[in-house]
Parts: sequence; C-alpha cells; structure tokens
Amino acid sequence: MTVPPVWAQLVYLVAAVCFILALKGLSSPKSARRGNLVGAAGAILATATVVITGNLDHLMGIGIALAIGVVIGAVGAYRVRMTQMPQVVALFNGVGGCAAAIVALVELDEIAQAGGASTFHLVATAFTIVIGSVSFTGSIVTFLKLQELMTTRPVTFAGYPILYGLALLSAVGFGVFLALFPTMVAGFALAVIGAGVGVLLVLPVGGADVPIVISLLNAFTGLSVAASGYVLENPLLLIAGTLVGAAGTLLTKLMATAMGRSLSNTLFGALKGGSTLGGGQASDRPVKSTGPADVAILLAYASRVIIVPGYGLAVAQAQHTLRQLVDLLTERGVKVDYAVHPVAGRMPGHMNVLLAEAQVPYDQLREADDIDSDFRNADVALVVGANDVVNPAAETSPGAPIYGMPILHAIQARQVVFLKRSMRPGFAGIENDLLYAPQTTLLFGDAKDSLTKVLAEVKTL
Ligand code: TAP
Repeated sequence: MTVPPVWAQLVYLVAAVCFILALKGLSSPKSARRGNLVGAAGAILATATVVITGNLDHLMGIGIALAIGVVIGAVGAYRVRMTQMPQVVALFNGVGGCAAAIVALVELDEIAQAGGASTFHLVATAFTIVIGSVSFTGSIVTFLKLQELMTTRPVTFAGYPILYGLALLSAVGFGVFLALFPTMVAGFALAVIGAGVGVLLVLPVGGADVPIVISLLNAFTGLSVAASGYVLENPLLLIAGTLVGAAGTLLTKLMATAMGRSLSNTLFGALKGGSTLGGGQASDRPVKSTGPADVAILLAYASRVIIVPGYGLAVAQAQHTLRQLVDLLTERGVKVDYAVHPVAGRMPGHMNVLLAEAQVPYDQLREADDIDSDFRNADVALVVGANDVVNPAAETSPGAPIYGMPILHAIQARQVVFLKRSMRPGFAGIENDLLYAPQTTLLFGDAKDSLTKVLAEVKTL
C-alpha cells in the first residue's frame, strides 16, 4: 500500500471534517440542505484525491463507471417522488454494502497472492465481506417490500429459526476459516453465506417495521465500510464508515423508541406469533362525512387548531395548500400548530422535510411529546392524510401491529376532522376506531382537493 502524499492526507482530513459538519447540518431542517451540500463536497474532494494520487490502473474503466453512476444517481434523484425515498435509501445502502464487500474480496485476492497478512487484517477483511453482503441482500429485500414487489407481511416458515441459526454459525465458522486460510474460495463462500443471512434477517420483518431495519442495515454498511477502511489502510473510509455506523445505530434506537418496539421484537416478533402487519379490513360501521363548507366554519371560528400531517399529505402534495390555509386561519386569530409524529409518513423526518418545502415557520412545527397534551384544549384536530399515528389501537389493542407505539392523542380534541379518500386503513393495515368516534367527521377526497375547497370556503367567511 502506497502512503498518500501529505497534501492528500490533508484533503482527506478536510473531507472527514465535511462529513462531520454534514451530519451536524442534517440534524435540523433549517440547516439540512447546507449539510447535504457540505457532505457531497467532502465526497467529491475525497474521490478526486483518490483518482489523482491513487496510481490507479484502468482509469478509462473507472471514468466510465463513475459517469454511469453519476447519471443514474442524478436522474434517479430528480425523478424519485418524496414518498419513494425510503426505497431509494434502501437501494443506496445496499450498493454501499456490496461495494465494501467487493473491495474486501479484491483485497483478499492480493493477500492470497502475497501469501498472508496479519490476523487482525484478515479478521477485518472477513468482517467486511460478511457484513457488506448481509447489508446488500438485506437492503434489496427491504426495497422489494417497500416497493411492494413482494409481500409486506412477515415471511416465516417451519424450520426458519434452525436455518437462521445455521446460517449465523456458518458465517462465524467461515469467517474464522478465512482468517486461518485466506483463499478466494473462502471469501466467496463467506459472501454467499452473508447474502443468505441478509435475506433471512429481513424476511420475518413486517412492513410497519421495515424503516427500523433500513437504519439497522445502514449501520451495518457503515461498519463494513469502516472495516474496509482498516483493510485498505484508508483513514477517511474508517472515519466515514464509523460516522455512518454510529448515525445508523442511533437512528435505529430512536425509531424503535418512536414506534414503541424493541429491536428483537422488530426482527423476530413474527416468529413469536405477533404479526407486524394487520389484516387491512375496514368494518361497515357508520361514519359521519362532512363537506368543505362545514369544515371551513369549524376551523375559522375555532380558537385552537392542531394539524396532524401524515403520509397522505405527501401523496397528495398538499403541503403548500395546507400552509396557505394555516396562514389564513392565523390571520383570523386562530392559533394553529402542526403536531409532527416521528414516524408520520414513510421515512424519518418525512413531515419536517415536506413542511419545510412549503416554508412552514419552524415554530409551528411541534414535536409529538411537546404538543400532545395540547390536544385536550384544542377545538379541532385536523388530521390530513394521517392514520396510524392517531390510532388509539396503539394503546388499547395488544396484538395490534402498532401496539406500544406512542401516538398523538387527537382523540382528546373537541372535534376531529379526517381528510382522506376512503375508509382504507393506514400503513399498518388496521382499523382506526377514531374514525367512528362521536366527535369525528370525515371529509372524503384527495387531501389537496379538499384543502383547496376548504381554503376557498374560509376566504368567503
Ligand atoms: P398512514 O397510517 O399510512 O395513513 C395514511 C393515510 O393517508 C391513509 O389513511 C390514507 O387513506 C390517506 N391518504 C393516502 N393518500 C391520500 C391522499 N392523496 N389524500 C388524502 N388522504 C390520503 O400514515 P401515518 O399516519 O403518517 O403513519 C405512518 C405509518 O407508516 C406508520 O404506521 C409508520 O410506522 C409507517 N412507516 C413510517 C416510516 C417512517 S420512518 N416515517 C417508514 C415506513 C413506514 P386513504 O387511502 O383512504 O386516502
């Protein structure tokens, strides 16, 4: 391994600082855009430095691969809808894990030709291969579930625990074998076993828990990249991988807490018989539907309104219309806030990103813990395309897929208005008793259409 010149090491240091600043920036909606750009600048700096100083063969091939990657990434980023972001994250994550595993296999080839390496180096190589492969196939299965290209229900079968146990044991066994006898055959066998573990890890996870698994796999990719940094003696990879590993681990913990689940329950709950996705049946109990004019009167003459945004707001792309409505109500003296549940939508921070796009003032965005007690004093809870995050089943129905998830107590508001298109359930696939409660009315239709009509009605009052 050639040691990079001092200037290159300094650039790596700058890139590492960029990654740290990027994470800091991404921790708030205000600075997230800047954080993203700083991180991208760090990645470009690092890549350019590797190309300039790396004494690389096959520059033409690398250039073509880079160009293809840039085109796919740029076109994908422009075309993907906000609601499909989790799938994109899963795919990118899988690609990262796969890349780390391939790099370790190439390194293993060199080790095999050189006739060996230090034990620690070999262990790091085995670790990168197996964890990178787990992350790759696990992320692909996650993508297929999120894109509904396969069932979103937990998949288990007789003998699963034994198969999974055997797969884990062979991963450890082949890892040790590779460290003792570093051959390409052992490397490929380890990659295949890792790929199998990745599939088996995600199969029993139900749709509602998939986001937790994405961030867990993200942490795995970070760890495998950090290990590949050690294998390649590249401190920048070590730092970047460690940051991703740490961020992924923290996010996994935060999301598991937000959904009221332990990690073992998320990964293996289905094996204990607890379904993580409901049946999706709507009952034929009567509900009260309402019209835009009535909702407008309710909102315009209220003194306290709390908006609960959810996935449907993103689907309808109604954030701008919602903001106009809130502005108008605020001008009329109504106090309005948005109650943002941590897992509302389909990705961490989904509602914050969506509402920031509509330039909703940050002081109106209130976190669930902070605003929940205010529902008691609210005249109206306006639930816009949300469902699971206000579903009382999370507290009252043990066995429900969302049981234990902290919810927003919209049920405590004097009036609850749901904007949704039908009686279909939310992501968890279970009925929501709040839809049938005496204080609840439903304004059926696409959220953007409904909000446009309500807005027009409020203007006439
Ligand atoms: P959901 O429970 O999924 O409910 C969304 C509601 O929006 C549905 O009732 C749907 O009813 C309605 N809707 C869809 N399109 C609409 C449109 N164009 N106009 C009006 N309404 C529309 O959403 P939520 O309350 O935000 O809860 C999120 C769920 O997703 C949780 O179960 C969470 O665990 C899960 N999840 C979260 C994440 C993260 S990290 N945020 C990631 C994956 C999954 P209609 O079809 O009748 O309109």
